[in-house]
Amino acid sequence: MLRPGFVYLDHNATTRPQASLLTELSSVLVRDQWPWGNPSSVHWASREPKNILRESRKLFSEKFNCHPTEVIFNSGASEGNNTVLKSVWSILGETKNEFLVSHVEHPSVIKTMHYLESLGAIVKWIPVNREGQIDLDFIHKNISDRTALVSVMFANNETGTLFPVLEISKIAKKYNTLMHVDCVQALGKEKIDLKSLGIDYATFSAHKFYGLKGCGVLFVRKSAPYINLIHGGGQERGRRGGTENILSLWSLQKMLPELDNIEKNNETVKNLRDYFEEQIQTRVHGVSITAQKSKRLVNTSSLVISGVDGETLLMSLDLKGYAVSTGAACSSGSPEPSPVLLAMGLTREEAQSSLRVSLGWGNTQVEINNFLDVLVEVIERIRSISESDKVAHV
Ligand SMILES: Cc1ncc(COP(=O)(O)O)c(C=O)c1O
Repeated sequence: MLRPGFVYLDHNATTRPQASLLTELSSVLVRDQWPWGNPSSVHWASREPKNILRESRKLFSEKFNCHPTEVIFNSGASEGNNTVLKSVWSILGETKNEFLVSHVEHPSVIKTMHYLESLGAIVKWIPVNREGQIDLDFIHKNISDRTALVSVMFANNETGTLFPVLEISKIAKKYNTLMHVDCVQALGKEKIDLKSLGIDYATFSAHKFYGLKGCGVLFVRKSAPYINLIHGGGQERGRRGGTENILSLWSLQKMLPELDNIEKNNETVKNLRDYFEEQIQTRVHGVSITAQKSKRLVNTSSLVISGVDGETLLMSLDLKGYAVSTGAACSSGSPEPSPVLLAMGLTREEAQSSLRVSLGWGNTQVEINNFLDVLVEVIERIRSISESDKVAHV
């Protein structure tokens, strides 16, 4: 339960750990029975953490249809994305120096690619249209046997748009090109079968899936090029140095069975999201939903609210206890409009008037109704202030 008066609608940024998980965690902490030992040790204190490592790996590989040795635990998806991109460049860069990367990736991909560009990599940025759909023709026209890797996300963190990963993977295969998919936002919301998708690398993060922060999963297909990002001890079969974050891995292991309930969990969230979008557009003029016609994650709503500054809206909603987002850029304190929305062809003004609402399993109809009332009131107030400012300046 959140504190009364606070409503969390920013699940694409992070999720609040599942209540049952927190209860279990506090109980083992109180009894001082938590797995604090180092799993690499060879005495009694390592037994439980070792077991958690083994079980999490086994369960993850079963749920995602891959081999346990193809699973590398790390600190999160930023590390995973860096590892994949830098690995491929280090190993293949001399013979294949081109990368095809979508224009709307997470900064952990975009900024890594900028870094690799500075080392000589050629990056062809795959455009998306106004609906956030990826330009498959661009991939067809630009892929060649010089392309080392195609990197796209399963689902976009700002708009929720889904990319046709299987279709892209089939194109990549024809050119003997590797394929990486950032699966962070899809975890727990979309079914993911790594074998059927035929991809080489995939990245995940526990904190986007009601787990604790600090652990991620990197899938590396057997025999796909790989080089350590972090050199160190022999953890993860020598592929990622550093003592594992056992508590976070434990939380991921506890959450993985929920992958069997995706449809049920999605249904409730989708009903709320669709209701929210329908209501806000009925009650307020000048509201459009970005990528509304595309295949999207069921929990994400990216709005453009004309005549309203997104940052002002965000702060006003925060004062009333509602946690939402204006897109990725604001989270870093940057005043720049979201690069994702700009890449989709929205104007700067539209991007600056955007708001992202991302729902989660715990949200209720009452919360959405109250949020709608507050949102309508705040939008009207901001609009009336900017109208009176305009009159004052005439
Ligand atoms: C699509 C996507 N990729 C990668 C990341 C980075 O994940 P982490 O916080 O585990 O580093 C995020 C987090 O916002 C994300 O949304």
